[in-house]
Amino acid sequence: MIEKIISEASGEVEPNKTPIAIPLKAPCPSESEKKAILFETTIVERRPKSGVTSKIAINPFIINWYSNKNITLKRGIKLSNKIIIAGIGPGSVDYISPAALQAIKSAKVLVGSKRALSYFAAEDQKSCPITGDILAAVCFIRDELVANDVVVMVSGDPGYYSMLDTLRREFSLNQLEVIPSISAMQLAFARLALPWHHATLLSFHGRRPNDEDLKFAEGKILGMLTDGEYNSHTIPEILSSNGWSGESKLTICARLSYEDERIIETSLSNATKHEVFKHCILIVQSLQ
Ligand SMILES: C[S@@+](CC[C@H](N)C(=O)[O-])C[C@H]1O[C@@H](n2cnc3c(N)ncnc32)[C@H](O)[C@@H]1O
Repeated sequence: MIEKIISEASGEVEPNKTPIAIPLKAPCPSESEKKAILFETTIVERRPKSGVTSKIAINPFIINWYSNKNITLKRGIKLSNKIIIAGIGPGSVDYISPAALQAIKSAKVLVGSKRALSYFAAEDQKSCPITGDILAAVCFIRDELVANDVVVMVSGDPGYYSMLDTLRREFSLNQLEVIPSISAMQLAFARLALPWHHATLLSFHGRRPNDEDLKFAEGKILGMLTDGEYNSHTIPEILSSNGWSGESKLTICARLSYEDERIIETSLSNATKHEVFKHCILIVQSLQ
């Protein structure tokens, strides 16, 4: 089908393809699998002489191969279409960068969380929600790239724990464009009027940092992303077992930028006296 679109749009005769093998059944092989298969694959670029039997790769490989060649086809179909990864800030539209907002508004195809789509997607934009099934979103992006740029919205800043890692693994780097916005981590430090250039920034979101990074040191400042398991009650315990005193200053920054934003100043030993916050930023400072 994609070969047909390419052939129609470019005016080139579709190569006479006789597949000798279909390399993989998976619709969206990873970058390393594609490279392995391309190594074994000859793609006939234009008008093969009659009688030539060409080996072909399945669609994603052909798209990838064409997009690397930066070929622009007739009728406006460009196979060098981009995936634009736009940060949307921590929540309120006040903290999204104008460049990211512009890219989102002018997108023909939008990918993002259900919450982001319900806020930003317009009726004339084709959209795909990012759910637990990340590969489904990757497949959607791959299909849509044939005809359009795809804008992927991620929370905060794309460079800080976002889907950018997955997209770097699945697509060529020359297909990716990143538009930064404000990270929840930046906003948390801003709320405390505290510089973050000397802070140790760690993520407990779906992972646990190594103990070396968590260890207490005089003057150390920690900024931490959290999740359901590693939250405002469990992280203080982990820090105590890494040498932090119970009197160390803890600031819980929850729902940053929303109307119900909460900034709670407490100490590690008093953390459990407050309700548990699962998705927040924790900032811990040793007493000087
Ligand atoms: C997967 S990380 C995404 C970080 C994002 N790329 C950024 O730059 O802010 C998700 C975590 O960020 C933090 N977070 C995101 N938005 C937040 C907000 N509005 N208020 C407080 N913490 C937030 C929470 O720790 C949450 O579990």
